[in-house]
Amino acid sequence: MTRQQTQLILAPIRGITDCHFRTLFQKHFPGFDSAIAPFITPQRYSSYKPKQLKDLLPDVNQNLPIIPQLLNTDTEDFLFLAHRLAELGYKEINWNLGCPAPMVTHKHRGSGLLPFPEKILDFLDQVLPTLPVKLSIKTRLGYANKQELLRLLPRLDDYPITEIIIHGRLGKQLYRGNSDPRAFARCLEQSRHSIVYNGDINSVEKLLNLQEQFPQLEKWMIGRAALANPFLVGDIKGLPDNSRSERIQCFHYELFHCYKELLSGPSHLLGRMKQLWLYLSFSFPPQAKSWKKIKKCNTETHYWTTVDDLFKKNH
Ligand SMILES: Cc1cc2nc3c(=O)[nH]c(=O)nc-3n(C[C@H](O)[C@H](O)[C@H](O)COP(=O)(O)O)c2cc1C
Repeated sequence: MTRQQTQLILAPIRGITDCHFRTLFQKHFPGFDSAIAPFITPQRYSSYKPKQLKDLLPDVNQNLPIIPQLLNTDTEDFLFLAHRLAELGYKEINWNLGCPAPMVTHKHRGSGLLPFPEKILDFLDQVLPTLPVKLSIKTRLGYANKQELLRLLPRLDDYPITEIIIHGRLGKQLYRGNSDPRAFARCLEQSRHSIVYNGDINSVEKLLNLQEQFPQLEKWMIGRAALANPFLVGDIKGLPDNSRSERIQCFHYELFHCYKELLSGPSHLLGRMKQLWLYLSFSFPPQAKSWKKIKKCNTETHYWTTVDDLFKKNH
């Protein structure tokens, strides 16, 4: 497989990879083939007015194909929202079986459902026969131990699932420790489905190494490392790497002004930009120092003086 043929999926990062981010990122740092949108939670008795689905409307998702992600376990609500998404033109949705947030896992949702395989199969038995779109799953190795997904995978073999994205951590780890390629390898042996690798792909070398270990995989999902180094996807694909400094500055400028129009007041705006800088600061070493400076900014003027200074020093 050539570097251009490697299929890259932008991971959902709630609070950052919304439609505005996805559009501008793809414009300035092309290379991703598709994205999973951050999860939405189906609401009971909602008619899903356009405002509630604003991140998923086709108009604002023109330059990168996306798959909406749903997080919940109520079959009726799930199916209702799936029908609404089908009306919007979507052909596939993704079920989140990986979210590690305690508020979610306590309710046996996200990765909190992995210790209960019967509930997962029950959900699929009820949903799949009338689901108007295809279904993929994004999951982790387990919630509390790595046997959970290993035991579940063979039981999913006969379900019509398009693919299973596996993030090589446990739910209870949150984002601590490293993603575990060996545990991923054991999962791969247990499934007949198409599997996508996710977790800590943070350099071209790392991906090449993983491709050597798992030559049968076609798709790779990247999240935080693409936010930390937006050039990573282009480097993986071997795309031209001209005008890096201008590209990163234009991307930042356009994103800032897009959110300035959308969000009310400087604290929301700076809060939003800081979520990205938590990762982007790795492109401005020393990271800890850059992040500390950005974190302190509480006016727009202060923010721009700090950001301009970082750009001047680093790019
Ligand atoms: C702040 C944050 C928000 C996330 N939001 C979602 C989400 O909405 N849905 C989801 O499936 N995963 C979510 N994830 C997990 C990522 O999609 C991805 O699986 C994880 O970061 C590991 O991949 P990476 O090492 O390439 O970042 C989130 C991760 C972070 C750090």
